[in-house]
Amino acid sequence: MLSFVGSICLAAAALQVSAVSSYFPVSTTKVTTCDSLGNVHRLSCDYGVITVQTVLYGRMNKETCSEGWSDNLSDINCSQKDSADVLKKSCDGKTSCEVAVNAFRSSDPCLGTYKYLESTYGCFISAPTPSNQSSVVCEHSTAHLRCDQGQVIRLNSASYGRRDSTTCSAGRPQSQIQNTNCERSVVDKVAPVCNDENSCSVRATNTEFGDPCSGTYKYLHISYTCVTKEPSDLSSVVCEKSTAHLRCGQGQVILVKSAEYGRRNSSTCSAGRPQSQLQNTNCVRSVTDRVKKICNDHSSCFVSASNSDFGDPCYGTYKYLKVEYTCKCLAAAALQVSTASPSSALSTTKVTTCYGEGNLHRLSCGWMN
Ligand SMILES: *[C@@H]1O[C@H](CO)[C@@H](O)[C@H](O)[C@H]1NC(C)=O
Ligand SMILES: *[C@@H]1O[C@H](CO)[C@@H](O)[C@H](O)[C@H]1NC(C)=O
Ligand SMILES: *[C@@H]1O[C@H](CO)[C@@H](O)[C@H](O)[C@H]1NC(C)=O
Ligand SMILES: *[C@@H]1O[C@H](CO)[C@@H](O)[C@H](O)[C@H]1NC(C)=O
Repeated sequence: MLSFVGSICLAAAALQVSAVSSYFPVSTTKVTTCDSLGNVHRLSCDYGVITVQTVLYGRMNKETCSEGWSDNLSDINCSQKDSADVLKKSCDGKTSCEVAVNAFRSSDPCLGTYKYLESTYGCFISAPTPSNQSSVVCEHSTAHLRCDQGQVIRLNSASYGRRDSTTCSAGRPQSQIQNTNCERSVVDKVAPVCNDENSCSVRATNTEFGDPCSGTYKYLHISYTCVTKEPSDLSSVVCEKSTAHLRCGQGQVILVKSAEYGRRNSSTCSAGRPQSQLQNTNCVRSVTDRVKKICNDHSSCFVSASNSDFGDPCYGTYKYLKVEYTCKCLAAAALQVSTASPSSALSTTKVTTCYGEGNLHRLSCGWMN
């Protein structure tokens, strides 16, 4: 038995409140397991880690786990002390855990009454301790930046050139490493590729960045921080000639954070497309303002990904539209939504793809991996 007692609106509200604390609650779940030999109590989080909130081993009503036990329901104010400790020890901090109900039978809080184990727990995302990472790769190599699951890259600095004579010097003639006063900031080139991505790759070449000091063997030095992607962030990617239908739950409205039309990598919207239409991965046009106009403050909106709407940032490349947005609760709604529902959809997205040779229909969720 499993029911969803949290709600997206509450989670989002709590998220704002807890901005200063180190945890983001994502959901709250209740699990009930009847006390029969061999039954297993299982908690799991799709996203984040478990923090056990309440545990009851006993009986507090006549309905739960009553089938076939009508003679054993008399005590409905029965709970074992210390049962929370048992579950916390096995579950807190894990993404899933299983505990046999047997583990709770060490003492009997109500002899003759048929009991059950009921727990509520939250799934929490731990905030990162923002630590600065850095990557240095020599000219003609590729830098691979990477963050843990659920985190994204926030670029601090990126430079291409040479600042000392030791980095990337092995086997190089003196003449290629003596100019240590050669540096070019390449943040403007790296940021569009890496910021807000979980991982990215950047080639350290003159083709990419220009040559700040001809004859010198250079390197690319990138410094970045991995930050937690807000669980309330949604993202929708639709391929060219498709229409995104962004939609928020009842009582919520869309708040667009960013929108781009173009191509940043060769894997998205690539199925069945010739290589020539995918190889330009340095084609991005910001269409944030336009999409904001269409979608902001509406509970749903349609945005079509087409050259006629956004212009063509790279002729001959098959493009896609990526919209990042949040569903914002209307204040009044946030108070109403604490009732249990069997499951809550975070967002519903509709994708329409025009009939045309080679068009791709792509669905994705920005959250819950
Ligand atoms: C349930 O039991 C506790 C002590 O075990 C007592 O304080 C409480 O008043 C009881 N509640 C009811 C509704 O009987
Ligand atoms: C259920 O009630 C019967 C009769 O009172 C008793 O013999 C039995 O032990 C009870 N079972 C449990 C699991 O408490
Ligand atoms: C990381 O780098 C940024 C920008 O250079 C700086 O503001 C911040 O204090 C650094 N953080 C840590 C933990 O070193
Ligand atoms: C390509 O871009 C899409 C959309 O931004 C992203 O979801 C995906 O993880 C990227 N893939 C790679 C391999 O970088």
